[in-house]
Amino acid sequence: MQLFNPPENLQKKAHIKSMEQYLEIQKEFEEDYNNKWLELAKDNLEWFKKPEISLNGENAPFYKWFEDWEINAAYECIDANLEKNADKIAIIFEAENWEVTKITYKKLSQQVNKTANLLKKLWIQKWDRVALYMPMILESIYAILACTRIWAIHNIVFWWFSSGALEERIVSCSAKLVITADWAYRKWKAYNLKNTVDKAIENIDSKPKVLVIKRNNIEIKINENDYIYNDLILEESEVCEVEKLSSEDLLFLLYTSGSTGKPKWVKHSIWGYLLWVKLTTKWAFDLQKWDVFWCTADIWWITGHTYSIYGPLLNGGTTVIYEGVPTYPDAWRVWEIIEKHKVNKFYTAPTLIRSLHKLCKDLPKNYDLSSLEILWTVWEPINPEAWNWFYEMVWQKKCPIVDTWWQTETWGHMIAPLPAVTPTIPWVATLPMPWIMANILDKNGEDIWYNKKWLLCITKPWPSMIRWLWEDDEKFIKSYFSDVKIDWKPVYFSWDWAIKLDNNYIKITWRLDDVINVSGHRIGTAEVEDIISKNESVAECSVVWRKDKITWENIFWFIVIKKEINKKQELLSEINLQLRKNIWPIVKLDDLLIIEGLPKTRSGKIMRRLLRSITAWEKITSDISTLENPKIIEEIEKLYNENI
Ligand code: WTA
Repeated sequence: MQLFNPPENLQKKAHIKSMEQYLEIQKEFEEDYNNKWLELAKDNLEWFKKPEISLNGENAPFYKWFEDWEINAAYECIDANLEKNADKIAIIFEAENWEVTKITYKKLSQQVNKTANLLKKLWIQKWDRVALYMPMILESIYAILACTRIWAIHNIVFWWFSSGALEERIVSCSAKLVITADWAYRKWKAYNLKNTVDKAIENIDSKPKVLVIKRNNIEIKINENDYIYNDLILEESEVCEVEKLSSEDLLFLLYTSGSTGKPKWVKHSIWGYLLWVKLTTKWAFDLQKWDVFWCTADIWWITGHTYSIYGPLLNGGTTVIYEGVPTYPDAWRVWEIIEKHKVNKFYTAPTLIRSLHKLCKDLPKNYDLSSLEILWTVWEPINPEAWNWFYEMVWQKKCPIVDTWWQTETWGHMIAPLPAVTPTIPWVATLPMPWIMANILDKNGEDIWYNKKWLLCITKPWPSMIRWLWEDDEKFIKSYFSDVKIDWKPVYFSWDWAIKLDNNYIKITWRLDDVINVSGHRIGTAEVEDIISKNESVAECSVVWRKDKITWENIFWFIVIKKEINKKQELLSEINLQLRKNIWPIVKLDDLLIIEGLPKTRSGKIMRRLLRSITAWEKITSDISTLENPKIIEEIEKLYNENI
């Protein structure tokens, strides 16, 4: 296996410079775990009240960290930078129409404070929930940080979600206010967000208020409970007192998919999140004060939220936010943005790299990409073909490609090469971050499994671990702390398969549950099934996915038992419309198969694994005698081969 060594010029200026340094830190942590965390926290964040207590594991797995501390997220991101960095550019925002706005830390502070004062004027108080349904614009960042300044809990809802999904998310956290914009622009089309919000709150009895950011002069319908941001903000003061919070208080809520029908609502608490985001940005991204960092993810998912906003700001960096889809109208938009803003650190998803590769293999040659130093990827392994193209064509074999593994539940990177230190291998996330105890285990916590696909676990609690689920403790334990045990004690189970290579590198293979990534969005097949089952013609269904061999994109196949005779194409369009209304347009079935029954165990569990094998034309070798209806497999195979 070929190892790619980091270039030497990176080591000189890096925060972590050598493998010896990494191993030394790892060792120190093993010896004095809790105190080391305490030390790190004191040194890295600006506390109102410094902590004395480290980990509290009394009520495991409901771990708490540094409960006696006082802190504020907006203060850490902004005020902590004002003394030295007030005039430094914090955010470079580029709109779809090429308009560029540069915001200094001072300006950011003024805008966030004004927005926070406006929220207070709209009767938002501590602990109130505010739903954010906004495009990628500067006001979204002001709103996020304004919420954290006065300790309103922001509930992030991706603006591409339909009114049905938004309604559910507003209701389940009893949001008092929805912040939105009149329009969002994507792929040069305008989307009326305000209409979607109106539809979403139509049937909500508590009638949340709506704060609208107007982006153009087209008139929109204004209701009794609506407030126009642009007018009101003019009256607000640039000074807003900061709310001092305990480090275990809730910072924000973010939905994520799991193996059950309903998405889970992950709570993020303050201290663990801030510390880990700050440190991982410093070490895994090796962020330096002269860097211009661009993370292409939407700020409404954990990657963008964490590493477009918090990570760079906590480290006094400069972050690029692009409003649109980076590969629209074509690949050149990516290269153009990098050239224009002299981006030197670039974080993206393998799917974007594959699109760039596919769209125009030679294009990078036409742009001055000499500023680029390191590329990071997340969300799925980067396939060797795309890796090689990027390494040779774009990097000209000079820069490392850093594959980062983490999850909404871990709040920040967990397994990733240190860019100046760790030799990389395509498709391998390499080693745990310093202080993270990751291992590949079997269900009894044994870790003897070199070169064998097994369960990826984090064996010690760490400060940025999921602080439970919104109002569902039982589901929290069941989802993350019931499958793998060491000495009878449950450890965090990630739901990913992984392999430990001979050199102790960790290679992530795939999810164990039916969660997939579609263009960088995490979706559970159960969620999709839940919506499809509502179709009158569907008695029961199972959605499976497979990877397209060429594009590597996930493709959905849908297997259904039908109640009434219905034309397949009609049913497919009906269901896709249903999905579009209830989730968002990215989720689309590519085809469906109408069958008599689903393969189930006697206890009624659908054996999706078998369906997946059929759609991938794999030979089924496992024992199917436990099935209630083993013959069905042959029938489905036959139908699939005849119809697809
Ligand atoms: C997958 C995104 C392989 C994994 C930050 C994980 C990856 C899920 C990688 C979390 C990677 C993330 N290699 N798979 N480098 N990074 N994943 O919550 O299955 O949207 O469990 O967080 O993405 O997705 P989420």
